Amino acid sequence: MRKILLIFGTRPEAIKFAPLYQEFNKNSNFFDVKVCITAQHRQMLDQVLNFFGIKPDYDLNLMKNNQSLFDITTGVLRGLEKVLKDYKPDLVFVQGDTTSAFVGALSAFYMKIKVAHLEAGLRSYNKYAPFPEEINRVLIGHLADYHFAPTIKAKENLQKEGVKENVWVVGNTVIDALFWGLEIIEKNINLKKEIESFFERFLDSNEDKVILVTGHRRESFGEGFENICKALKEIAIQFPEIKIIYPVHLNPNVREPVNRILNGIANIYLIEPLEYPYLIWLMSKSYLVLTDSGGIQEEAPSLGKPVLVMRDVTERIEGIEAGTAKLVGTKKETIFKAVQSLIENQSEYQKMSKAVNPYGDGLASKRIVDIIRDNIN
Ligand code: UD1
Ligand code: UDP
Repeated sequence: MRKILLIFGTRPEAIKFAPLYQEFNKNSNFFDVKVCITAQHRQMLDQVLNFFGIKPDYDLNLMKNNQSLFDITTGVLRGLEKVLKDYKPDLVFVQGDTTSAFVGALSAFYMKIKVAHLEAGLRSYNKYAPFPEEINRVLIGHLADYHFAPTIKAKENLQKEGVKENVWVVGNTVIDALFWGLEIIEKNINLKKEIESFFERFLDSNEDKVILVTGHRRESFGEGFENICKALKEIAIQFPEIKIIYPVHLNPNVREPVNRILNGIANIYLIEPLEYPYLIWLMSKSYLVLTDSGGIQEEAPSLGKPVLVMRDVTERIEGIEAGTAKLVGTKKETIFKAVQSLIENQSEYQKMSKAVNPYGDGLASKRIVDIIRDNIN
């Protein structure tokens, strides 16, 4: 039995680990898998754990209001020392680019435990955008022993940095989670009804045009978020028939400008973070998505939804190249014009909404578990 420890702390990591955890559990003859959450996020993480039925074996319970990068880094490092000494895993898995993931990889390295990196090799090549994620993933790339890259481009990024051994292109588990989540909704009639009736309060009919908005990047705090909110206000005023539904991230640096600038506008609905099945259902009903989220950039093409990415750079370049996503920055005018164009120009809309997902086929988790079982001692 090989002892595997999944370490994660935030909502997107939990979503992307959920199908892998399930796949490891299907192979329980070979693996003993435990989960350690840092709880860098609390409510937003617990929402995902509840939906996918994941019960953590260790919970560092670290989240503090408006925590700094120093708080997360030191808290995770201290907490993991005890967990790693207690469980003594053969292999630690981290996902993506959060500070929990980086410190998870660092902690395992300090104890000479092998590290596997899920979603390896993404690069924006801009040290400060996304911040601190770009450097987190570069560092994880060099701490890790096994690299599960979602795309060929991600593998090539690693090769350019001299990371050439034990790199596999497997797709992104976010697509496994999306297909699984959609299947759960389809099969569970009560859940589907609950979701539909939740959104009835915002949507008068199926014909409503909805823009789904999310945002939380640290490099956009301050001026960037002010501009994003002003752009949303302008869109709402110029297109009163459009409904903007914005589940607002719990980070106080996001909530303050969003509430100050956007409260009270009739066709903007500011709501709490949505449970994952509600979010994917809403995305499937949206006309387009305005976001700075990494995960949403990867999911939306599977649902044929154009994504306008409110960032200056992205490490998810495949969506841009496939034509399903467009970088629109954080300036009011550019965001407004990009939305206007997708509302008024049907041929442009049709071009972007053609559903080609470059991030995977829903089988990434199975590939990873097969590789670990068959190729890694
Ligand atoms: C973190 C990750 C980011 C990831 C994002 C996903 C880092 C440095 N940042 O950013 O890479 O894209 O999660 O959403 O690793 N909060 C709550 N409840 C929650 C979650 C957050 O109240 O469930 C509030 C707290 O005040 C917390 C703050 O949000 O201090 C910031 O959380 P933090 O994890 O530090 O940053 P995120 O912006 O969520
Ligand atoms: N998500 C969710 N509820 C929300 C907003 C997002 O379940 O209200 C999901 C979304 O479907 C995606 C993930 O959370 O899978 C993205 O998380 P986030 O944008 O917080 O982080 P990022 O992907 O940018 O690291």
